Amino acid sequence: MIVVTAKDYDEMSMKAYEAMKKVLTEKSDATLGLATGSTPVGLYKLMIADYEAGKISYKDMTSINLDEYVGLPVTHPESYRAFMNRNLFDHIDIKKENTHVPDGLNPDLAAAADAYTAYIAAHPADVQILGIGSNGHIAFNEPGTPFDSHTHVVTLKEGTRKDNARFFDNDIDKVPTHAVTMGLKDIMSAKFIILLANGSGKANAVKEMIKGPVSENCPASILQTHPNVLVVTDEAAAYYLN
Ligand code: F6R
Repeated sequence: MIVVTAKDYDEMSMKAYEAMKKVLTEKSDATLGLATGSTPVGLYKLMIADYEAGKISYKDMTSINLDEYVGLPVTHPESYRAFMNRNLFDHIDIKKENTHVPDGLNPDLAAAADAYTAYIAAHPADVQILGIGSNGHIAFNEPGTPFDSHTHVVTLKEGTRKDNARFFDNDIDKVPTHAVTMGLKDIMSAKFIILLANGSGKANAVKEMIKGPVSENCPASILQTHPNVLVVTDEAAAYYLN
């Protein structure tokens, strides 16, 4: 695991993009594992800027997202499909049919999750972007999730719903109670993982991920066992590392 500390959010995004760009330039048909949330938005802006400058094309690339809320229509602005369209897909030349986000409205969520797992097994990400929850979750794999989990439906922890209430008029009751998430084993199948973390609210989770025991109590600690992980944080998120 390589850990890099940037001075602020913009530098964090830039350093993560530099690492990602190597994959984008070396493999024109790369599979991109993507995340939602506030953390990767700066990285996505840099991807868009380089696309607009004619430096990278996504026309032969495929993407696969980590997770989606259960029960939110894709037209809801906070559905992760809408988030990805708004913050990335609508601004680059990736083909929408090549972008994959779990279907949180599927009447058979378990079967859809199994199909997602099978897709990931056949198309492991060349680069997987991750954020981290303040409780150490990656994707929506909350503390206690088995390390050998595949795509599954989760009940979101109250703390996670509180953290995400800022996207739902600060009203926790509007935050969905369930989500579909890639499992930890699916995430570990990526060839290269870039985890970004910014802000003091992530400092403890970052410390547990890097310095704590490899334990299901901190799902992100599984990344200590992956051969190719880059963690990029800002100074606030790195607070307990030194
Ligand atoms: C999002 C995801 C989550 C977030 C995490 C941090 O697809 O899988 O694990 O990465 O909750 O969210 P932000 O970036 O909003 O702090």
